[in-house]
Order: sequence, then structure tokens, then C-alpha cells
Amino acid sequence: MKNRHELVEKNTFWLIVLTVIAISFGGLAEIVPLFFQAQTTEPTESLRPYTALEMEGRDIYIRDGCHVCHSQMIRPMRAETERYGHYSVAGESVWEHPFLWGSKRTGPDLARVGGRYSDEWHRVHLINPRDVVPESNMPAFPWLETNILDGSKSADKLRLFRDNFGVPYTDADIEGAEAAVKGKSEMDALIAYLQSLGHGLK
Ligand code: HEC
Repeated sequence: MKNRHELVEKNTFWLIVLTVIAISFGGLAEIVPLFFQAQTTEPTESLRPYTALEMEGRDIYIRDGCHVCHSQMIRPMRAETERYGHYSVAGESVWEHPFLWGSKRTGPDLARVGGRYSDEWHRVHLINPRDVVPESNMPAFPWLETNILDGSKSADKLRLFRDNFGVPYTDADIEGAEAAVKGKSEMDALIAYLQSLGHGLK
């Protein structure tokens, strides 16, 4: 027995192979069960799909790189929950494709920013952050106010989420998507999206 152990320790190839096998058992035992647990795969009770307008807002959030400075993931630590609210749970994110959890925080976490400020605050803040937070180094996004949505892709977006990711949109949601966003500004859409964040957990 002693000699066999020595054999493994002196043979780099077998040492690497057996180490990888040993470590993957630990990883598999922790990770694989998560794929089958309701807690991580099923939506939370109060989760509802994004409206067509919120969905457009989410795309603008991605396009304009908001996720580069803002995370949407509250960690279960006192310093975070005191500041941002209840820590994020997996069931809030089951319909997020791609998810926007992130880890880079130049600005605050936005996972529960919905309802924290008025729509008007967001409007002023996005046009020029320094008008409401003098020391802010967040960039200004003035074009959001003048860019108007045409909604030509809105129905396709909802359909894609229903057919590929199982998000429960009705036919009426999809048929009404274009009309729901037409004529609204990108600012309206982004604010609607921001105000929806965090409501998946009561
Ligand atoms: C270069 C980094 C950067 C980018 C890009 C950025 N932000 Fe910010 N954001 C910040 C910083 C820093 C703050 C904190 C100061 C302030 O409130 O302006 C902040 C604050 C905020 C707040 C207030 C959060 C709170 O809880 O007080 C919101 C909402 C917000 N940003 C939304 C956005 C949106 C939407 C976008 C994309 C259009 C965006 N940010 C892009 C850096 C950034």
C-alpha cells in the first residue's frame, strides 16, 4: 500500500489525473444537485415577466453598458443587506437571459432599485447625474430622452423568451407588444425597467 502511494506521488501524470478526479467529485456533489432543485430552477412566487416596455429598457441597459458599472446581485452579507435589501435568490433570475448579476461595482448594486426613487428622479439623473448627486462620476445619457422606440422587434423579443426560455407570455402580450412601446422614448423604457427591478421577492 505504501509503495502504491509513493508511485502516485512520484509520477506527475497519475498525480494530476487522480487529483482532478478527486476534486471533480467534490465539485459535482455540490453543483449538479442545483440543476434539479426547485429553489434554483423555479420562479419565485411574485416574479412576473417583463412587460414589452421593460424588455426594451433592459436591452437599452445592456446596449449602453449600465451593467459594466452596476451589479444586480446582493450577497448574503450584513453590509450588503443593510444597504440594498434582501439578498438575491436564484428564483428571481430564472427568466433572465443573459443574467446581469455582474461583480463590478463602480456604482451601487441595482438589484432592488425599483421603487426607491421616483420616475422623475431617474429622468433627471440619467440626463445628467450631477444634477441630483453632485459628486457622481456616472456618465450622462441624454440621448435616451430623444431616441424614440418604433417597437418593430418588440413582439419578436417576447416570443423569443416564451418559445426558448419558457417565460409565460400570452398571445395577447405578444400581439400587443408593438403598440405598447410605440412612440415611447428610450428613457421611458429604461425607467420602466429600473422600476421593475427587485419585485420578484416580496
Ligand atoms: C462609469 C460607470 C457607470 C455607468 C456606465 C453607469 N453608472 Fe449608474 N452610477 C454610477 C455611479 C458611480 C453611481 C453613484 C452616484 C450616482 O448616484 O450618480 C451610479 C448611480 C446610479 C443609480 C442610483 C442608484 C442608487 O441606489 O442610488 C442608478 C439608478 C443608476 N446609476 C443607473 C444607471 C443606468 C440605467 C446606467 C446605464 C444607462 C448607468 N447607471 C450607467 C456609475 C455608472
